Parts: sequence; structure tokens; C-alpha cells
Amino acid sequence: MKKIAFFDAKPYDKIYFTPLSEEYGYKIKYFESKLNEDTVSMATGYDAVVAFVNDTLDKEVMNALHRAGITIVAMRCAGYNNVDFEAAYKKIHIVRVPAYSPYAVAEHAVALLQTLNRKIHRAYFRTRDFNFTLNGLTGFDLHGKTVGVIGTGKIGRVFIDICRGFGMKVIAYDPYPTEGIDYVSLEELCQQSDIISLHCPLSKSTHHIINETTLSMMKKGVYLINTSRGALIDSEALVEALKSGQVGGAGLDVYEEETDFFYEDRSGKVILDDILARLMGMPNVLITSHQAFLTHEALENIAQTTMENLDAYFNDKPLVNEICYRCSKFGTCDRKNQNRCF
Ligand code: NAI
Repeated sequence: MKKIAFFDAKPYDKIYFTPLSEEYGYKIKYFESKLNEDTVSMATGYDAVVAFVNDTLDKEVMNALHRAGITIVAMRCAGYNNVDFEAAYKKIHIVRVPAYSPYAVAEHAVALLQTLNRKIHRAYFRTRDFNFTLNGLTGFDLHGKTVGVIGTGKIGRVFIDICRGFGMKVIAYDPYPTEGIDYVSLEELCQQSDIISLHCPLSKSTHHIINETTLSMMKKGVYLINTSRGALIDSEALVEALKSGQVGGAGLDVYEEETDFFYEDRSGKVILDDILARLMGMPNVLITSHQAFLTHEALENIAQTTMENLDAYFNDKPLVNEICYRCSKFGTCDRKNQNRCF
């Protein structure tokens, strides 16, 4: 029976993975620790590693996994900015779950927007304290507002459909446009949008795509929503823009330094990250802990595709969800010819 080392495991992962792994005939060992240089030795003796968004899969960890005899890492997520593909190439196959529920993430983006806009988070605490006043809770109609969508892939397009349902005008920026969407330059998007939502991956070209310069181009009071990756936004610049009122509200499901905090209970500890603490202290900032994916449907699909990916690997079937440094860098690799990247 193949043995799988499952890192950064949470109770809700086990609910979906355990029954499926039994069905497939694999034995999963759940490790609560994140995968990193200190914990990688725990993978010794296993046949595969399952990892998540805040695990560290850099060169050191890849080399250590390789020395431990691991030949496949199954990412149970879509994004892969935490993976050093060059270090993994020809040593460790990397598979992922390219799509599990674009609805989960897009709907969470809308939930952040509407909670912030209509001040639901503040109203909730007031009414629980029998304070039924409305001062300071005024929002705005979404109908008629312009929303700028950066990245019109699977999630961005679902988000656009929802926004159109609200009667909003949608404009978008994406270097790879698709039909039926009104594209503009990034600069025009910043200048024209009342709300901006980020749905592009984190890469060298998108790192800090929201920075002092792009923030200064935006309409005063713009609402920013980020459910993609934290480092798309320069958080220091965001804090300044919130302080000056340039940004009127920020709904963040991700944060560039989230690895040390998100998915952990830090309630009894002093937060040492001054930027995070500053953001948390603002009434017009709403932070969730990288939970946009967290729906029943998404978790079910994540578990199913991850087990299918592992099963395909161990049974020499085509690895349809494999990704390597050459397919992401040159748009072509051996997978086209031999069903595997190498
Ligand atoms: P996708 O690959 O379907 O779409 C990404 C889009 O971004 C593509 O259309 C691509 O052309 C575009 N893009 C690439 N570079 C760009 C640039 N420089 N500027 C603007 N657009 C650019 O990906 P999908 O499934 O829509 O996911 C988007 C992102 O959402 C993922 O990369 C991931 O980081 C994030 N995500 C967050 C989750 C959460 O729980 N918060 C869960 C799942 C994904």
C-alpha cells in the first residue's frame, strides 16, 4: 500500500481525504506541520507528498525530498507560486488541482465586497450588543458602479458574471483576453474602477501589481478585493493608501506575509507583524484567512482530483495535471509527447 505524507493537515482535510484514500487503497499520514526545511525529514519513508499553499517547496526542500526518495508532490491547490519548479525538474513530478470550484472563490470575493460595503461586520457586533443605531453604516449601491477585474481566468469570469447580475459595468485587464469582456489597460482600469478585484496568479510580472504608483492612479475611495495571492499587493503602500482615504475599503483573503499566521490560532499571542496589525485595526479592512476555497464542493473536488493525480502517477497513466518549469516557462514540454513532463 502506497504511503502519503500529507502536510499542513486540518480537520476538514481529513473529512474529505480519508474516505477517498481508503477507496483508492492509499494510506495517508496527516502532519499538522507545514512542509519546510525543518519538517521535510518527516517525508522519509513515504511514497508521495501532498502539500498546500503555505508549504515551502523551495530548492532546499526539493533537494531534501529527492534525497528522501520522493518522486511526486501533489499540490492540493490551484496556485503554485510556492514551488521551485526548476529545482524539481527531472527529480520530482509536481501535480496540482487546476480547478475545483471557481464559484467558491468568486462568491467569497463578492461576500468580502458586500460585507465591507454594507458594513455587515460592524452591524453584527452592534446588534448583538443591542445597539440598533445606523450611524457610520452607510454603504453604496453596486448597481451602476464600475468594477475592474484583473485576471479573467476561471475565477475572474465567474466573478464578472456575478457582478453583471448586480447591474455593474465590468472592465478587465488580462494579457490574454477572451471574448465577451471589455478589456482596458491596467492604467485605465485603475483610473475608471470604483471597485477592483484581483484574480490573476502571482508571478514575477504580477508581484506588487498593486503598488504606490497604481494605487495613486485609482479613484479616491476605491474598494480593493484580493482573493488571489497576498504579494499581488504591496501591503505597506496599501496601508498608506487606506490612511489617506485613497482606498476606501479593502477585503483581503490573502496577505503577503500570511504563512506565519493564516490557518493557525494566534489569538493568545502578540502579533509581531506591524502591517498586519495596522490593517486589522482599520474598520474598513476585512481580512479572512485564505478561506475563499473553503466550500463543501471545493473540498470534495480537491480531494478527488488529488487522489486521481496520485493514482495516475503510481499506475503510469498520463499526468494531465502535471506542471513543470518548462511548461510554465516555454509553454511546451515533453508532456505533449509522453504524457509526463519528464
Ligand atoms: P486561471 O489560470 O484560470 O486564470 C488566471 C488569469 O490571470 C488568466 O486569464 C491569465 O491570463 C491572467 N493573468 C496572468 N498574468 C496576468 C497579469 N500580469 N495581469 C492580469 N492577468 C493576468 O486561474 P484561476 O483559477 O482563475 O485562479 C486565479 C488565482 O486565484 C490563482 O492563481 C490563485 O492564486 C487564486 N486562488 C485563490 C484561492 C483562495 O482560496 N483564496 C483558491 C484558488 C485560487
